[in-house]
Amino acid sequence: MSNTIDNLLHEARRFAPTEEFAANAIATADLYERASADRLGFWADQSRDLVHWHTPFTRTLDWSNPPFAKWFDDGELNVAYNCLDRHVLAGNGDRVAIHWEGEPGDSRSITYAELTAEVKKAANLLTSLGIQAGDRVAIYLPMIPEAVIAMLAVARIGAVHSVVFGGFSAESLRSRIDDAEAKLVITADGGWRKGRVFPLKDAVDAALANGESTVEHVLVVKRGENEVAWTAGRDLWWQDEIALVDADHVAKAFPAENPLFILYTSGTTGKPKGILHTSGGYLTQAAFTHKNVFDLHPESDVYWCSADVGWITGHTYVVYGPLANGATQVLYEGTPETPHPGRWWEIIEKYKVSIFYTAPTAIRSFMKIGRQHPQKFDLSSLRVLGSVGEPINPEAWMWYRDVIGGGDTPIVDTWWQTETGAIMVSALPGVTTLKPGSAQVPLPGISIDILDEAGVPVGKDEGGLLVVTEPWPSMLRGIWGDPDRFVETYWSKFGDKYFAGDGARYDMDGEIWLMGRVDDVMNVSGHRLSTAEIESALVAHPLTAEAAVVGAADETTGQAVVAFVIIKQNQLETAESIDVAAELRKHVSQQIGAIARPRDIFIVTELPKTRSGKIMRRLLKDVAEGREVGDTTTLADTAVMSSIQAKLT
Ligand code: PRX
Repeated sequence: MSNTIDNLLHEARRFAPTEEFAANAIATADLYERASADRLGFWADQSRDLVHWHTPFTRTLDWSNPPFAKWFDDGELNVAYNCLDRHVLAGNGDRVAIHWEGEPGDSRSITYAELTAEVKKAANLLTSLGIQAGDRVAIYLPMIPEAVIAMLAVARIGAVHSVVFGGFSAESLRSRIDDAEAKLVITADGGWRKGRVFPLKDAVDAALANGESTVEHVLVVKRGENEVAWTAGRDLWWQDEIALVDADHVAKAFPAENPLFILYTSGTTGKPKGILHTSGGYLTQAAFTHKNVFDLHPESDVYWCSADVGWITGHTYVVYGPLANGATQVLYEGTPETPHPGRWWEIIEKYKVSIFYTAPTAIRSFMKIGRQHPQKFDLSSLRVLGSVGEPINPEAWMWYRDVIGGGDTPIVDTWWQTETGAIMVSALPGVTTLKPGSAQVPLPGISIDILDEAGVPVGKDEGGLLVVTEPWPSMLRGIWGDPDRFVETYWSKFGDKYFAGDGARYDMDGEIWLMGRVDDVMNVSGHRLSTAEIESALVAHPLTAEAAVVGAADETTGQAVVAFVIIKQNQLETAESIDVAAELRKHVSQQIGAIARPRDIFIVTELPKTRSGKIMRRLLKDVAEGREVGDTTTLADTAVMSSIQAKLT
């Protein structure tokens, strides 16, 4: 590992912006100067420039009760109005907001005027179903325009959305519905994925089948045309209901700190955390970063972020950032390889996409299948490329630049998290000299440092823990219903500094390299998974006595889930007669979702534990990655590791 890091940090390639790019760039170097001269004044200016305030704010930041921040808190705005009506009023109603591409090949282009009209109707529909400001609405939809419409309609009436990724299981959906006490679920009959319709309404039915829930209605968008069961009185077809409501809707202003959404993400315990974001600060940083990091020229660019709206990247860089900035964007329903491995590149050619934002794991899978696929398409419209979700290795970075970007397209590697709400560390494409593999520098107005365990800042060429040292506009405002966990998780380690959970290093130039999570959170294909959550799913199976899960390095997915499982004594016979690994993988899919399914399951008879009974995952990781096992002296029984290794070979 230290060898790899050394190689990374001595990466010598540098790519300065071309003169032409720099001359036309939205972001210029003076942003850094302005922000460092007066950080709060800088954010206040950005907010006034980029956001329409129904009632202007006079206070920028209230940090009198840390870590509970309030930004722009005496101002009032309507987030959906900012994403819709104001563009229409400014004469841009005919601009396409969304070029939507369904997986089977159906498509639909929706202008800002049309999107505004749809959201107004949806807002009236939600109100007619009794949804009021502050109520929670769960959204469980495929990547169809209605996902965006539903989110904006919820925002428009001051309610709070909780989008649940369509790949999560009924169980996961239910726990999120219960935690947020959602009154309404918006779903679809099904969506298209890998050439087939996957049912969503079935999962909602299963989620709501057991015991009383807070859900009063289920609104169902017709998309997959698959058959669905129906609960009269509770279930309603979106298309039927929307046809009945008024087309007019005036957006009311809400306070800047009105909750906008809850998004669940994995932490170090078995229970996902409901990350809470509010309105004015979030929208400010979403719009600022989207415009400056991607060099957005809304009148000429076509932007595409390949993330699902079920993740934070979809919230900030499919919905709120681009729409607040009046961008034209592509929304694609399906998978990259359906019906052929060049589907993404075909879409870029079709819509002349100029800004493309995706994850390293996708790039690495494309590298694997070869450049002949992208090379069949004209990708010359691309002028900015972005990366997010995990560290991008220099090799993938170069491939992305050369093969997708035609050799001269800047790449911005953007570091941020569900909790940070928007990009925090990234190059600015017209300013920064790019360095493959490094996220490089904090954005203007963002204060980052790397500390050692004792909280002392490390120097050049040194590594430690990444922290944010000053509050930022789009920071999480808490964990839904659990203020103590919020303080404990992020603020107990270094007091007044936000601890991100990531390891990082400064290189010799003082630029930042992300080194992966330092806690029990895994990153599989850019998706965050908790070892504890998968372990508790595994031990919930009747065969399992104990389980330990680690994230092992994987060439394509970054990390892969590897599980070590002990079978119960009285189940050994049953276990002999079935394919245990297959059974347990299926079980994890049902409990959490297919993304959490372990790549490998090893059946063992013991797990390495310290004398106090703590599982030493570090040693299991050594085994899973095929390395020599590290120091075992603190194990209660030092023979355990040899017995595990003997078992695996
Ligand atoms: O470990 C970091 C990694 O993804 C984590 C955040 O995951 P999530 O909340 O799901 O948000 C992902 C999309 C913003 C971080 O703690 N991560 C994200 N972006 C990068 C990254 N690691 C390295 N480089 C990045 N650009």
